[in-house]
Amino acid sequence: MTTPAQPAASPAPWWRTAAIYQIYVRSFADGNGDGVGDIRGISERLPYLRDLGVDAVWLTPWYVSPMADAGYDVADYRDIDPLFGDLAEAEALLAAAHAQGLRVVVDLVPNHCSDQHPWFREALAGGPGAAARELFWFLPGRGPEGELPPNDWVSYFGGPAWSRITEPDGSPGPWYLHMFAPEQPDLNWEHPRVRAEFEDILRFWLDRGADGFRVDVAHGLAKKPGLPDVGPEPDVTDLPYQDVAGVHQIYRDWRRIVAGYPGERVLVGEVWLPSPAQYARYLRPDELHSAFNFDFLCAPWEPAALRRVIDETFAAHEPVGAPPTWVLSNHDTIRHVTRYGRADTSFDMGDKRLGDPSDERLGRRRARAAALLTLALPGGVYVYQGDELGLPEVRDLPDEVLQDPTFVRSGGADRGRDGCRVPLPWAADAPAFGFSPPDARATPWLPQPAGWGALAVDAQRADPDSTLSLYRSALALRRERLRGLPETLRWVASAPDVLCFDRVGALRCLVNLGEAPAPLPAGAEVLLASGPLTTTADGGRAVPPDTAVWLAPA
Ligand code: NOJ
Repeated sequence: MTTPAQPAASPAPWWRTAAIYQIYVRSFADGNGDGVGDIRGISERLPYLRDLGVDAVWLTPWYVSPMADAGYDVADYRDIDPLFGDLAEAEALLAAAHAQGLRVVVDLVPNHCSDQHPWFREALAGGPGAAARELFWFLPGRGPEGELPPNDWVSYFGGPAWSRITEPDGSPGPWYLHMFAPEQPDLNWEHPRVRAEFEDILRFWLDRGADGFRVDVAHGLAKKPGLPDVGPEPDVTDLPYQDVAGVHQIYRDWRRIVAGYPGERVLVGEVWLPSPAQYARYLRPDELHSAFNFDFLCAPWEPAALRRVIDETFAAHEPVGAPPTWVLSNHDTIRHVTRYGRADTSFDMGDKRLGDPSDERLGRRRARAAALLTLALPGGVYVYQGDELGLPEVRDLPDEVLQDPTFVRSGGADRGRDGCRVPLPWAADAPAFGFSPPDARATPWLPQPAGWGALAVDAQRADPDSTLSLYRSALALRRERLRGLPETLRWVASAPDVLCFDRVGALRCLVNLGEAPAPLPAGAEVLLASGPLTTTADGGRAVPPDTAVWLAPA
């Protein structure tokens, strides 16, 4: 087992302030030339991540999977899918990352498994009365012939959350629950074998040096007894399939396991819930260590809304003592360069508005300012691969290349999440922009836009004004100046369209979200700016619209 060295005199556990880089494994770097990202590709790029200046990486699922939902349908939680490599390579990657000072958080998918998982196969093959059916939610259908689903729940991916099985003798059988695709049957967390199995899976990866887990659908594991209908006008704060009280005991049990390992291992929740109060309960001191702040991700690029969500974030986290986190994009959302270039800059998972016009130049300008905002805030921060390159969402992928199940299940109404999953450009002039090795036998699994050479890592590395250079400088300054500070900020009085706060003693962050330039005080020392400053009529300097600066403390 390997664990990276703690920074000298670390005042707080690493995860309270970490910058965590999300690697979407199939789209990060292809080491073996089959057009799909893999462990070898990640290993080769570790120096890139070290130089970028992040503290840790989160790897999306790399387990054996039929890939009905890009790996979020796991058939074997203790082995690696051959598409990505093998277990020995995974172990070597953990060790190599640690040797570079990077921690590794792996994805854990406990709400559901794959329909090809041995348990589900056993449940189907064993016929009525098979013990393995107890590990899932098999229920008889309603209606005279059991021809209707057991309740009215709708899958997050569209369509009913239930599918009916055919028994081994060919007769119609019961229905099983799948809150996502039919290939992702929900596990029954009331069953002790499910609990024991996942505790063992946690230990399996902790023993191999994983520094923590990103817990998929953390709000969804427990279901309300009896699986009642939601009814025509559901109360979104009290749904029978999310945020059901019993879920918290699961995390208390896991926290004890994780705490038994050296090196500050962590549990990070994917907790999508309507109210900050519900969300915060997952972050009580004996549950998850942290979670993704989706309210911040969903907020529009507007000063009052951002300030409100920042204040609400602190208000929610403080009582439970958890660090706030900040995230702008991930593999399920619309890349924020594109979102911030639209008239409506907010994000709504239920209505992604992928077709809305977007001004990419404006969006990137705002995304750069947003980078300085998020990296200045107290707590942890997530960088989704490609954020640091200013990649936009790819919105013109042809139907025939789309792979996300949401596209098919919504009958094409939702074009899905493939547009934020396009393989990274590494080299402007290489085939596949260097995503695959030069002698690759296949093209990237999703086509990259022709213009992405200009956004490639090698093109940006050479340009001090690139988004990559901005991220590198900001991450370095963040490390130097902000690590170890109290997890608080002090708002500074400013014009209504300007967000300005101090990380006391370390830096002042000023973000201009208005339409007029925001003048800087005479003598202010600019540490970093997301874009060029302008000059005022009286010869002073000003921060133009949609630009952020970090200033030395006054
Ligand atoms: C959340 C993951 O981020 C998403 O990609 C996946 O489709 C669902 N959970 C289901 O596992």
